[in-house]
Amino acid sequence: MLTIAHLSDIHLGQVHLGDGGERARRRSERVMAYLDALPGPLDAVLVTGDLADHGLAEEYRQVAKVLSSRHPVLTCPGNHDRRSPYREVLLGEAPGEEPVNRLHRLPGADVLMLDSSIPKQDDGLLDDGTLDWLDAELASGRTQLPALVAFHHPPVELHLPYVDPIRQFGAVRLARVLRRHPRVAALFCGHAHTPAATTFAGLPLLVAPGVVSTVTLPCEGGRGISFDHPPMLALHVIDGDRRTTTHYRVVSPA
Ligand SMILES: [Fe+2]
Ligand SMILES: [Fe+2]
Repeated sequence: MLTIAHLSDIHLGQVHLGDGGERARRRSERVMAYLDALPGPLDAVLVTGDLADHGLAEEYRQVAKVLSSRHPVLTCPGNHDRRSPYREVLLGEAPGEEPVNRLHRLPGADVLMLDSSIPKQDDGLLDDGTLDWLDAELASGRTQLPALVAFHHPPVELHLPYVDPIRQFGAVRLARVLRRHPRVAALFCGHAHTPAATTFAGLPLLVAPGVVSTVTLPCEGGRGISFDHPPMLALHVIDGDRRTTTHYRVVSPA
């Protein structure tokens, strides 16, 4: 059994009502403090993109500090991130504009963190090289273990007017790859800033709540994005049958 925490869209550097980015930093620190204070272990913490609000090197220095944890923290970029400073500051690698795709081998599962960002665009796409890489990694190595696949942009409509036009496109290609690999237990994404669950390619698609804001449904009124909801996170439990059960937790913003 695996227990995975999942948060997203911490947007460090986001200025809210002229606060110099304080609110985003404070909320992110609260969420990470919640996880660090858990008495039990976590197998990993997934952070599915929009780590920095403007993709600046100084923002990634803050990201590195805020996301440092006693748990293994696995990240992927979102549309607000920039690949070169992400690589240099967060990963300690040479700068480069290729997609930032990473395989993490946990003791009980492979976790594939994919880059669905398109430089200078808000919508998303897993490019052909990323999908080929995913296909090859799922087919190789520890095929007896479950695989978890994460990216920033949801590949389906979530019925959110704010997010649906900037979702992940070209998703039929992703579905084709996923259907070839029954070891994939579930899919994880961010970008939508709302705790949501749906399906894609016959798999659970679990959307992380946003830390800095919450995107709302038309029936909830307002302008489609709320800064009043508290930050949240998800805890996913993957059992021996590769069934994923998700629990959401609210964290006090103060
Ligand atoms: Fe975001
Ligand atoms: Fe995003």
